[in-house]
Amino acid sequence: MLASRSGRARRDLVGTLVGMPSLTLSGPRRPALAQMLEYAFRPETQVQRNIVRYGHAHWMKGLLGPILATASPEHAKRVFAADPDTFETFAAVSLKGVFGPRAVIVTHGPEHKRQRKLLTPPLHGPRLRAFGEQMREVAVEHVSRLRTGQRFLAHELTTEFTLDVILRTVFGVSASSELRAILLGMLEGFSPLAVFMPQIQRPWFPPWRRFLAARAAFEAALDRLIAERRRTKDDARSDVLSLLLAVRYDDGSAMDDDEIHQQLLTMLIAGHETTAITLAWVLDYALRRPAVLARLEGEARSASDAEAMAKLPFTGAVIDETMRIAPIVTDVPRVTRMPFEIEPGFVLEKGTPIIVLIEGIHRDPTIYPDPSTFRPERFLEKKFSPTEFLPFGGGHRRCLGAAFSEHEGRIFLATLLSRVELETVSPTPSKRVRRNVTMGPDDGVPLRVKRVLV
Ligand code: HEM
Repeated sequence: MLASRSGRARRDLVGTLVGMPSLTLSGPRRPALAQMLEYAFRPETQVQRNIVRYGHAHWMKGLLGPILATASPEHAKRVFAADPDTFETFAAVSLKGVFGPRAVIVTHGPEHKRQRKLLTPPLHGPRLRAFGEQMREVAVEHVSRLRTGQRFLAHELTTEFTLDVILRTVFGVSASSELRAILLGMLEGFSPLAVFMPQIQRPWFPPWRRFLAARAAFEAALDRLIAERRRTKDDARSDVLSLLLAVRYDDGSAMDDDEIHQQLLTMLIAGHETTAITLAWVLDYALRRPAVLARLEGEARSASDAEAMAKLPFTGAVIDETMRIAPIVTDVPRVTRMPFEIEPGFVLEKGTPIIVLIEGIHRDPTIYPDPSTFRPERFLEKKFSPTEFLPFGGGHRRCLGAAFSEHEGRIFLATLLSRVELETVSPTPSKRVRRNVTMGPDDGVPLRVKRVLV
């Protein structure tokens, strides 16, 4: 799939291409602010319209200049397969202010590679399987509080659940720990605007001042926890914090406390709301489709332990179909550090922002026939490639918590649906709105407990 040959070629935007052969790219003419606002709040509409008018690859006008937006799996493949040194972090300045300069979500090049080598094992393989039982226990704690007839918001339940899972598995503390209140304070005080606009990361902006105070409280609490872990030294501990205290870089050095703060803060912010929203969406989609719900419930009731729950195929397919149709993150952003050939003979110059449109690829009818229909079976019938199904991004920056989140999601749903029967309260499906960097349900997905089974 190539960039559009049709549409009106834009001289000013096309000018940022180097050595461009016969291909031209065009894009909407509307002012940058209008385009960015629409992309932030109505991405589906805008992405589909731009693809129809300007082709799978087109230029959007960003506030700081043109952005190459592409919904081509071939382009995604080249971006994901490129040498990591090809790109720098998108919006690094803003991310640095929030997470710190050494957070894995901020760094690039050799430092990023070195960090991922240490951060990957605690969230994968045997370590992840060991978290399964803890995830199930946390799910049981939350689900067993539900009562017949009770109304609640799915998003509130899933948020409480994912927060407590992170507390247990990443920080190694219980829900009654002082850290919980501190984390909640920090998450509540966090202004999503600050991720997009480094200009407001200033003491005169009250939400930013509050965030800094909350982050300082988080760091102090984490320091106390680290000191206690060092004092008590228990090799049996499997939480991510204990593992990070024990691991060593290739040169034999340990991860220092300051870096541990930044990596754990990243896991908390990147890993908490994302999974919570996905699970709330799953419930909204599944509870409106009796056949899907019946099959989910049947599977849930067939699994007796966390390991079996984490392997449930249809439950996994429902989560995947939910992330396809309502991706939590709309695109995978990169910025070129050097000229980059996005397709043969088509070179982007250094400093060009690229966004791979998850939104666009997930709705491509040549990949997903009848893309607006929620049909989980498609994920059982076919294995989609990493550039066709990319809710977790891809390449050297692919989400570090993807496997963790999939594991956690299946265990939560199986625990919930084997213990209670639920129904939706609202006659219409939730609307997709921007909550943060993420896209979530506007009303939190109101539900009612029809019957408690266990
Ligand atoms: C449904 C849940 C989740 C979704 C949809 C999601 C999505 C994403 C996406 C799209 C990226 C950017 C990838 C790229 O640039 O190629 C990302 C990065 C990241 N995610 Fe997730 N995520 C989820 C859950 C989690 C969890 C549970 C954790 C941790 C426990 C986590 C930790 C991270 C980290 C550390 C990064 C930065 C990776 C890097 O820059 O090298 N995420 N995530």
